[in-house]
Amino acid sequence: MKAIEIRNKYLNYFKNHGHSIIPSAPLIPENDPSVLFTTAGMQPLVPYLLGEKHPEGTRLTDYQKCLRTNDIDEVGDNRHLTYFEMLGNWSLGDYFKEESIKMSFEFLTKELGIPAEKLSVTCFAGDKDCPRDEVSAESWKRAGIPEERIYFYGKDDNWWIAGEEGPCGPDTEMFYDTGKPPCSKDCQPSCNCGKYVEIWNNVFMEYFKNKDGYSKLAKKNVDTGLGLERMAMLLQGKETPFDTEIFRPVMEKLEELQKEDYIESRRIIAEHLRSSMMIIADGGRPSNIDRGYVLRRLIRRMIRHLNKLQIDLEELSTLIDINVDNLKEMYPELEKNKEIIKSTIIEEKNKFIKTLLHGEREFEKQIKNITNGKIPGEVVFKLYDTYGFPPEVTKDLARRTWIRSRCRKI
Ligand code: SER
Repeated sequence: MKAIEIRNKYLNYFKNHGHSIIPSAPLIPENDPSVLFTTAGMQPLVPYLLGEKHPEGTRLTDYQKCLRTNDIDEVGDNRHLTYFEMLGNWSLGDYFKEESIKMSFEFLTKELGIPAEKLSVTCFAGDKDCPRDEVSAESWKRAGIPEERIYFYGKDDNWWIAGEEGPCGPDTEMFYDTGKPPCSKDCQPSCNCGKYVEIWNNVFMEYFKNKDGYSKLAKKNVDTGLGLERMAMLLQGKETPFDTEIFRPVMEKLEELQKEDYIESRRIIAEHLRSSMMIIADGGRPSNIDRGYVLRRLIRRMIRHLNKLQIDLEELSTLIDINVDNLKEMYPELEKNKEIIKSTIIEEKNKFIKTLLHGEREFEKQIKNITNGKIPGEVVFKLYDTYGFPPEVTKDLARRTWIRSRCRKI
């Protein structure tokens, strides 16, 4: 099942269960300078989770564009993404645990056709502040998950709060069993071996946390989040999100263009290109601070990896066209903003090339003073700080310079 079909099924299912479909908020939060990007479906809904009346009622559903950059250096492996889409449904003082769990189970098994045997769930084990979540566990049993596939964990795993303070509560997470052999006799959803993949998180907000501790919220809310790319990957039986139709067209083009073959680089390029395009479509522009800096970093990292694959940077325009064509049904804003996306990325590329040239000159100047064959930390730092050369680029340059000098001697 393609990602867009999953999204449509989700929104329709919840619409048929009394939810109003609300539009995704922009990736760049409106009127909220405290955060750089929207990082979860609940973020734009915080005022309503805190009690404000939502004009669309007490049952809401949407797809939300999200960006998280805390794991940016992990992108290139088989699962990390910076941009992702989160499907969500909310109850603002309406239904609570039992009904939420019943709907999640029905959506997964009936609408998406996941066999119930492939599902395991986790619930909050309780601690000195908040009790064990027996209601969720009982609801899962009634829905059709046997006791042996219901696990209890502490606040590290089964508690949700955005930041240090705010609305929060126990959550229940759903895991998909990929069918891989267990890593040990204790293998369970909390382990990272890859057998179990988390697919959906239902947060039951019943508390508000501040520096004085936990107090009960006046109205209990439900906030759920389902990662679309991951679900598409699992339903399509793929090993990584990069093997789904979301990324395939760009990945294939990179395979065709590359002169060096590095899968991590192809993934980084495909991932950062999509993220950059989504940020620009929502009004972001590169700069040296805050959001603009994140965008700059994404574009520059992508360019470094295009260089690593020895792909002509003029091909960026083609890669953008491929992404717009592939993703425009999911994100019409990409087509609408195609020209500004292109000009922003290309202008940033040109600036980066200039910086790289200056950096290389500086590097040549600095290494003249080196006698022991080692590049001092201050030089590595200056190249990074002033010229945007990450240490791995400096290392690469040092290696190339060393090879050149050896060739001259021979
Ligand atoms: N807020 C929760 C999450 O981000 C559920 O939407 O996972």
